[in-house]
Amino acid sequence: MTVSPNMRSVAATDRAIEAACEFLAAGELVGVPTETVYGLAANALDESAVRKIFAAKGRPDNNPLIVHLPDVAAMRQVVRWPLDPVVMDQFEAIADLWPGPLTIVLPRSERLPDAVTAGQATVAVRIPSHPVMQQLLRRSGLPLAAPSANRSKYVSPTTAQHVVDGLGDRVSMVLDGGACTIGLESTIVALGEQPRLLRPGAITAETLATRWNVPVESLLPVDQRPVVLEAPGMMLQHYSPRTPLLFADPSASVPAGRVGRIAFAPLAPDESKTFAIVRVLSDTGDLNRVGQHLFAAMRELDAMGLDAIITDTCAAEGVGRAIMDRLKRAACRE
Ligand code: TXA
Ligand code: MG
Repeated sequence: MTVSPNMRSVAATDRAIEAACEFLAAGELVGVPTETVYGLAANALDESAVRKIFAAKGRPDNNPLIVHLPDVAAMRQVVRWPLDPVVMDQFEAIADLWPGPLTIVLPRSERLPDAVTAGQATVAVRIPSHPVMQQLLRRSGLPLAAPSANRSKYVSPTTAQHVVDGLGDRVSMVLDGGACTIGLESTIVALGEQPRLLRPGAITAETLATRWNVPVESLLPVDQRPVVLEAPGMMLQHYSPRTPLLFADPSASVPAGRVGRIAFAPLAPDESKTFAIVRVLSDTGDLNRVGQHLFAAMRELDAMGLDAIITDTCAAEGVGRAIMDRLKRAACRE
């Protein structure tokens, strides 16, 4: 039987979650909803299942995966426990931000296949809050390795349809849990002598700095650029639409051709008229809304065959730090 890609996303009913558990236990891949972005999940303890993730995404195998767990107790399956006292203190100061859009890099357990961590001594773990993902984790009893469910370097998916569009023929099923409420990948922190921010997200650097009682700057890489060697997935070009993405500049003229516009708040009618399409991400310029809808807007405009997309920008603080991080990567053509 040939299955049309559109048949592969299934509303996340009890029965569908049961079917997803069976696929995962059998070493297959399943597209899963989380509050940040959709993930491409496999049993983290099954090396050959994990290898399928890299093949499906076209992801270099030196780029490690995040392991998802239902709660802190389940962390012992994949983390070397107990933690060192210094790391434990840092961990306890932020652990109540779970379940949520936060990933913590910790020393790994020997049980975990090397493929998950790309041979590193650490593992990135996350306890997501999405109710469907929580049910899946609890019912399957498996730690689930899951990167964002996009082809490597393309924009992350925030709906089940996005997953079908990019990977529909490479997964056993996609569980549809609705549009993601955060819309930006999780904040990643590494604990150790000094805690560090590896990827900004909806849990802000400011919140983390307050918890650890350190200046925000101490969490950031010295040159403010994303960490390159330690998290290979942080290479600059990432999350990119195929259409050139430019930052709005009131003093510059709009480029020739059919141009799309991503606006963080409504535009004046006169300005709107100059674009082939305008997507307004928030009625009020609320950056949490902007984050929620940004990737869907990029994907939608990218599918229109435009000559360019122009986007608003914002100050790189709070959740704006994550938004500007993703926009700079998306605009980068190196
Ligand atoms: O919100 C999210 O985090 C989503 C959902 C599905 O949970 N997942 C996600 O995964 O964004 P991915 O693979 O697209 O991004 C994970 C990032 C990569 O840049 C990877 O290099 C980094 O986490 N990473 C994974 N393990 C690491 C480790 N042990 N040390 C440092 N960085 C690590
Ligand atoms: Mg990703």
